Amino acid sequence: MRPSHFIMPTQSYKHKRQAEEAREAKEANQDKRFAVMEDHTRAAVLAMYDVLDSQHPGHVIPGYDRDHAERTTRVVLTVARALGMSETRLADLELIALLHDLGRAGMDPKLFGAIFGLAQERGLPVRIRELLTRYPEVAEEQAPAYFLDLISPALHEQGLETTEQLRDHIAMRMNFKGRLRGLLKEREPELRALGLELKPFMETVMLYYYYPEGMETADEDVRLMGMILVACENFEAFNNWRRGRDYYGRAKERLSDVFEALAKFEADGLVSSVVMATLRRLTTSGDLDAIIKESRGVSPGSPLPDEDLAFQRSGR
Ligand SMILES: [Fe+2]
Repeated sequence: MRPSHFIMPTQSYKHKRQAEEAREAKEANQDKRFAVMEDHTRAAVLAMYDVLDSQHPGHVIPGYDRDHAERTTRVVLTVARALGMSETRLADLELIALLHDLGRAGMDPKLFGAIFGLAQERGLPVRIRELLTRYPEVAEEQAPAYFLDLISPALHEQGLETTEQLRDHIAMRMNFKGRLRGLLKEREPELRALGLELKPFMETVMLYYYYPEGMETADEDVRLMGMILVACENFEAFNNWRRGRDYYGRAKERLSDVFEALAKFEADGLVSSVVMATLRRLTTSGDLDAIIKESRGVSPGSPLPDEDLAFQRSGR
């Protein structure tokens, strides 16, 4: 008979392998479980992020936010399902999450990063809410021109000219509402042809992050949809290595940092503790591992770093 220490490693290896296989199967199933829309319909909606380059005829500007929107949608549906939302609301949320950043279609990440990186460096407001709070005398529709006045000297120092494209990039942040509204209107016939209806509250949900005041008179479940979107799109953004390098000066993504950053949305009252606790639970259970790895740009087969596994085990 073999001594017990020969048996133990074999059993522990077997259990470990079984656990790995279960986790891999769970990750592989994640995409299928939450597909509400047909694949070709979802692909057609996401293709709306790619736009023709007016400066270079025949060229397409690939949508920088396209993959972010797609992954955000999967997180949103996972959280919404866990919160017990109806199939109708899940379908609404899928379309909302897929389109939520359409207002930035046509963005050149270098130019966008140059403008708002410079604004941040000079202590200028980088979001419309910040600008309107700091300068209460400025009306919402004046925000893009006001921001341009504030940043013009710094832009000129850097040799950046005030082109139409630059103004448009400022509008992506300082008139996100107008830009999103215009693009949704433009795309409405195509969406209708795909069998998708843009309901009036959908814009309110998409705009909740930048224009939370629009939610004041909304129904409870519409508000909940807004909270889920804000929590999940930021969850993706804080895990997204490309955004981290391009905008946030981040060298690494860590789950503990992600939830530390998300905590401010809860503190501001933008996201409820129930939504945040659900997102945290689904993160620590491993249900979002496949999406996290995609956002981080690591292979699906590689495990999460030890510090993330420790975060998950802590169940925080
Ligand atoms: Fe987003």
